[in-house]
Amino acid sequence: MSLALQTDSKGRLRHFLTVEGLPRSLLTEILDNAERFTGVGERAVKKVPLLRGKTVINLFFEPSTRTRTTFDLAAKRLSADVMNISIETSSAKKGESLADTLRNLEAMHTDMFVVRHQSSGAPFYIAQQVGPEVSVINGGDGRHSHPTQAMLDAFTIRRVKGGFDGLSVAIVGDIAHSRVARSEIHALRTLGVSDLRAVGPRTLVPTGIEAMGATPYYDMEEGIRGCDVIVMLRLQQERMDSALLPSAHEYFQLYGLTQQRLKLAKRDVTVMHPGPINRGIEIESAVADGSQSVILQQVTHGIAVRMAVMAMCMGNQAEAGE
Ligand code: NCD
Repeated sequence: MSLALQTDSKGRLRHFLTVEGLPRSLLTEILDNAERFTGVGERAVKKVPLLRGKTVINLFFEPSTRTRTTFDLAAKRLSADVMNISIETSSAKKGESLADTLRNLEAMHTDMFVVRHQSSGAPFYIAQQVGPEVSVINGGDGRHSHPTQAMLDAFTIRRVKGGFDGLSVAIVGDIAHSRVARSEIHALRTLGVSDLRAVGPRTLVPTGIEAMGATPYYDMEEGIRGCDVIVMLRLQQERMDSALLPSAHEYFQLYGLTQQRLKLAKRDVTVMHPGPINRGIEIESAVADGSQSVILQQVTHGIAVRMAVMAMCMGNQAEAGE
């Protein structure tokens, strides 16, 4: 179902809603196209004309810094006309339904919607409603999926490590509420990471994680031992219904990534975080800002990966060289 909704009859990307169910070839194509787009951001004139004349609407029903601005920049660097709509200023606040908001925005001949929504499944619903020429990209839905974040993380890993085979990757923290973790597990498994670990307290590592392809670890030190890559996650307190944790201080004692703990991983371990980071809760400042951290490179890569996805959904394969 997810593959059928996301691709056209020739297997090309039409919407990007979830990584789950997409073949390795398509994920690799996104990474290869992103590789070609990275150069665009380094030029004096940071633009290619692939989406000239197209209208992109960023529809954000939830707060965002990195995702919204990098989608905005990605669209602009592809020469699209881009509008940013956030819930604070939209008529959804006046009681308009999602379907009605959408019909109105579609009436403006929008070609692409980038949607972030607090409800899991909202971008899927939108993709089913829009006309055949319109593409929908998921910018994060509830705790379900965040496919472009997963792909920019995969892109960062491939750039730093040269590939995925033989890597040990630990995703650490609040896995239960994390759409990033869910999408990342699907992406990294599909791309060939065989040792994928989900590390965190029992209350925050969902049951069934093994079925998704990750091995649960409830002890931080065991979980990161010998790893090539550590992906730290924020405690998503806004999604926790009850006290699943003793205290932030105790959490840091047990699961915080410190310089001391980092020594348990491989010497050339790479530290990642999708942001926003909470210093002193899941990660020590010295590690977040240290030489093994690629947290800001992830942000830079987010633009190229989002350009690749947008160009592919609009039927343009990357031609960043022109
Ligand atoms: C994440 C998100 O919103 O899912 N951040 C992001 O997109 N860079 C993770 C988070 O909020 O902790």
